[in-house]
Amino acid sequence: MAALVTGGASGIGAAIAARLRDGGARVAVLDRDPAGAPAGTLPVKADVTSDEAIRNGVAEAVAEFGVLHTVVGNAGIGAIGTVEDNSDEEWLRVLDVNVLGLVRTARAALPHLRAAAAERPGSVSITHTCSIAATAGLPQRAAYSASKGAVLSLTLAMAADHVRDGIRVNCVNPGTVDTPWVGRLLGQAADPAAERAALEARQPTGRLVSADEVAAAVAYLASPAAAAVTGTALAVDGGMQGL
Ligand code: NAI
Repeated sequence: MAALVTGGASGIGAAIAARLRDGGARVAVLDRDPAGAPAGTLPVKADVTSDEAIRNGVAEAVAEFGVLHTVVGNAGIGAIGTVEDNSDEEWLRVLDVNVLGLVRTARAALPHLRAAAAERPGSVSITHTCSIAATAGLPQRAAYSASKGAVLSLTLAMAADHVRDGIRVNCVNPGTVDTPWVGRLLGQAADPAAERAALEARQPTGRLVSADEVAAAVAYLASPAAAAVTGTALAVDGGMQGL
């Protein structure tokens, strides 16, 4: 199997890339800062806000692997604030990375995925890293939540558009995951330990999700075991949404 993971040089994306690699896949890590790409993967420097950079990055991966079966659109950024706090520029930046980044990645990859699906039906997929913010109202996350709501709808629309091509499209909805991103957020809090405790308490399991637990869900969605699974959002959120 050959895979490409955007934002695969840190946190959830790095865990996904490592897990797919450990499962025997050749993995390209497309990241604006690919230095942290896991060993044994192909680091590709590209910013998902550039259509040209993504096209070149996907072409580089396909030139190396000769084929592409799995795309994981994971690169994303956050924004803190209510609708009164964030400027239009901040909104557009979040939507550009979190939503259009996935559109550009899919546009570049789909011709290759279509070709692969003709050879290996059921084994070709796109998986997006969405968020529980798509379905739960979280305070101080207006732009981020709106972007992830768009990711959920985009996932469903793409699943419908490409099901007849043999390409499955799904997303994972993580709760709060212990990654460098969350570490940065906690670092900015007045009382980081209290903030971490509040995040842990928000999830019924009483702890943060690990990046590898999200990676396991993505690996399943990308595997032939999920051949009947498309147009779904798999929550990995410690029960936050359902309980
Ligand atoms: P992270 O900040 O640890 O890693 C993000 C990676 O994406 C970094 O390697 C970064 O260089 C890359 N990236 C960011 N903007 C990029 C761009 N424009 N072009 C190319 N690469 C870019 O973040 P984390 O926590 O691993 O988040 C990954 C994804 O998971 C994001 O889509 C985020 O919204 C989502 N998520 C994270 C949660 C969490 O609690 N950490 C919860 C739910 C979803």
